[in-house]
Amino acid sequence: PDPGWTAEADLVVVGSGIAGLTVALRHAELAPAERVLVVTKDVLSSGSTRWAQGGIAAVLDPGDSPDEHLNDTLLAGVGLCDTRAVRTLVTEGPGALRRLMDRGARFDRTPDGRLQLTREGGHRRDRIVHAGGDATGAEVQRALVEAVRASGIEVIEHALVLDLLKDAAGRATGVTLHVMGEGARDGVGAVRARAVVLATGGMGQVYAATTNPVVSTGDGVALALRAGAVVRDLEFVQFHPTVLWLGEDSTGQQPLISEAVRGEGAFLVDHEGDRFMTGVHELADLAPRDVVAKAIMRVMRETGRDHVFLDGRHFGPDKWRTRFPTIEAVCRAHGIDPVSQLIPVSPAAHYASGGVRTDLYGRTSIEGLYACGEVACTGVHGANRLASNSLLEGLVFAERIAEDVHRARPRPGGPEQSNAPAGLIDPRARGRIQHHMSAGAGVLRNRGSLTATARALRDARWTPVEVPPCTESWETTNLLTVATVLAGTAAARLETRGSHWREDRPERDDHEWLGHLDVTLTEEGL
Ligand code: SIN
Repeated sequence: PDPGWTAEADLVVVGSGIAGLTVALRHAELAPAERVLVVTKDVLSSGSTRWAQGGIAAVLDPGDSPDEHLNDTLLAGVGLCDTRAVRTLVTEGPGALRRLMDRGARFDRTPDGRLQLTREGGHRRDRIVHAGGDATGAEVQRALVEAVRASGIEVIEHALVLDLLKDAAGRATGVTLHVMGEGARDGVGAVRARAVVLATGGMGQVYAATTNPVVSTGDGVALALRAGAVVRDLEFVQFHPTVLWLGEDSTGQQPLISEAVRGEGAFLVDHEGDRFMTGVHELADLAPRDVVAKAIMRVMRETGRDHVFLDGRHFGPDKWRTRFPTIEAVCRAHGIDPVSQLIPVSPAAHYASGGVRTDLYGRTSIEGLYACGEVACTGVHGANRLASNSLLEGLVFAERIAEDVHRARPRPGGPEQSNAPAGLIDPRARGRIQHHMSAGAGVLRNRGSLTATARALRDARWTPVEVPPCTESWETTNLLTVATVLAGTAAARLETRGSHWREDRPERDDHEWLGHLDVTLTEEGL
């Protein structure tokens, strides 16, 4: 669609979670005379960051070391992490966390004033800082939103990003947006900038049950694909092992029961009350997430049940109230008293470990286009992200991106073009896409289920009427784009590795598959 309004900036940041707001704040510090514009699909405080419970992993304990954090991350990533990216993450992480505190985030402390550290799956040390007990993301989001408001950085809310603008040389020159109800900027418009940062978060809404909020519809990955950027390893979707089970028909965003609950000593049991993680992995209930999710699925299959239980009754009322107030409240809201009852849990889609491929400065394969946070594939997560490394990744790479944007001075290169999708998808297809993805490309996959999913996704393209452009039709179009690529790469990877579990290929195959699946969209297709 033709832009009805235009705006100019030096840097446009798309998304307002930890990654986007940190890029904007750091750029404003480095180049106070330059104009930074943050655009966000909902309001500034929405998105996945505020739902994060567990915390931020960083080496802060004198007994810990970056090498140990690196090793835990590499082990969880099952051979597919980029060691240089992980080293960057673990060595720059503590400094980035301190700067987040300087920007106003307050974390829980011990009575003698030190940061309180806890543990989650796959970590062999206590290295996770948290806030408000189990409301870390909410505190981080609060602090960053306040800092952005105080800094005077310009923000456009209710702005859904549509497509990337590029010059004749193929460099990013801005984005088109669909804005609802922002006065002079209502409707479709274009923002021109010398750098564009995608910080749009994840794509959990591609599944029927997910911990992700309703806004996580893969908009950034879909935009990047349409623009011709390289997208990597979309098959590695992490399923969080312990999501509050609300019945098999429950769809949409589901309540998370943080891994930190197991980090503090809760454990998984089956319907007979037997602990089933002992003997599965040396870390038992604190094994990496993929190991725990698989063990839960195996128990559910063997027992014919659709959930297992988390037992934290031994915490007692004080610990539940002070350490996990959010989770206790959510359990009680659903009629479960975690002090006296087992918590029913099952796995649900949680995090995209793959995404838009970047280098160590967040640069994508398109000059001037950066990606940061869950939308990106920096190489730190490999086949399975280590718990609480995601907020850390957002912080560390956001700062690197701001520094790179500050250094880079691209020359303008001729007339613009964008790659809008050929046709929009009927929003009524959203539920069907989610259902087919959960049924065939979810925590368990095989050749037959993936073929059926691919066929169903092709059918979902068909629409009897011309679909009007609106947020819902754009989101559904994006969901279908990322679902198609995800199902395609899941079908292509003929092995089981990390969070990609092929029932028909149950072994990891380091001979054939110790590598990445890069995808680009051309006029001929994928
Ligand atoms: C959790 O609190 O279990 C989630 C943390 C994460 O996804 O890293």
